[in-house]
Amino acid sequence: MSPADPAPAARDLQPLAPRPLDTRPLDPRPHRVTALVTGATAGIGRSFAVALARQGYDVVLVARDEQRLSDLAAQLKASYGVAVETLPADLADREALRRVEDRVADVDHPVDLLVNNAGFGLKRPFLDNDVEEEQAMLDVLVTAVMRLSHAALRAMVARGRGAVVNVSSVAGYLPRGTYSAAKAYVTSFTEWADLTYRDRGVRAMALLPGFTRTEFHDRMNVDPGSAPRWMWLDADRLVEEALADLAAGRRVSVPSRRYKALAFLARATPSSLQARFQGLGRR
Ligand SMILES: NC(=O)c1ccc[n+]([C@@H]2O[C@H](COP(=O)([O-])OP(=O)(O)OC[C@H]3O[C@@H](n4cnc5c(N)ncnc54)[C@H](OP(=O)(O)O)[C@@H]3O)[C@@H](O)[C@H]2O)c1
Repeated sequence: MSPADPAPAARDLQPLAPRPLDTRPLDPRPHRVTALVTGATAGIGRSFAVALARQGYDVVLVARDEQRLSDLAAQLKASYGVAVETLPADLADREALRRVEDRVADVDHPVDLLVNNAGFGLKRPFLDNDVEEEQAMLDVLVTAVMRLSHAALRAMVARGRGAVVNVSSVAGYLPRGTYSAAKAYVTSFTEWADLTYRDRGVRAMALLPGFTRTEFHDRMNVDPGSAPRWMWLDADRLVEEALADLAAGRRVSVPSRRYKALAFLARATPSSLQARFQGLGRR
């Protein structure tokens, strides 16, 4: 021991070098998970945003109405203490859609669950609508779903985990113009994605609601009385069942027994017969 060395006992008693206090809040979760929900300001998308925030997901809310987005963000932060981002965007607008794609693809702030839910329908038959209205519907129901799924699946497959829920419709099993054809695309595309990427740790599930009490029919100016009461589903229960189906590994979720039966019948019925039930060809 050199004379310069303090005796071992004295060295042990030396004060520890002061360290700055870590004042960051403690996060009990080892890995924060984030969900991005489109069409989060109303109906099924809003129910998804609330249910996921309740489960502890940080959420990114996408829709056009900025006021409703920030109201919901404040409510979710206050009720569940999660981080909430708002991303106002009209998904029929390619530039706005690109901003959402970029957020979904962001490697520094990964999106673990994408819910492609935004959508709307048109009341009038195909030839009575301006073709640009039909195009805008296709842009939101198909193009946005495809492009956001592309951004999400690419990032998720690279990470080896993640999930995409695409909100389709049982109407995709019926011949009913652009809306049904778009939903048929969404169901088929999502089944393919799940079959392709499941082995690489990434899930996809198509959610096929039947008539659900939301703003969808009001926005179309359709009287909810046009469908019998037993056919109407509750959005919160629908989402609860959908999330249970996702956790159970289902590829297609058709919430409620009545719509499971109706979807089975629709798939088993030739389209010419379905057309007769719907009175197609008479308008
Ligand atoms: N309700 C039903 O009976 C039913 C049945 C089967 C399937 N679905 C499907 O369920 C999904 C959700 O519908 P919902 O019933 O919940 O309808 P909703 O209550 O009318 O909500 C639609 C949501 O989509 C958003 N949205 C509409 N157009 C948009 C656009 N161009 N860009 C961005 N966001 C847009 C709306 O927000 P902003 O207005 O703020 O943009 C709103 O948040 C749709 O894909 C629909 O096709 C509904």
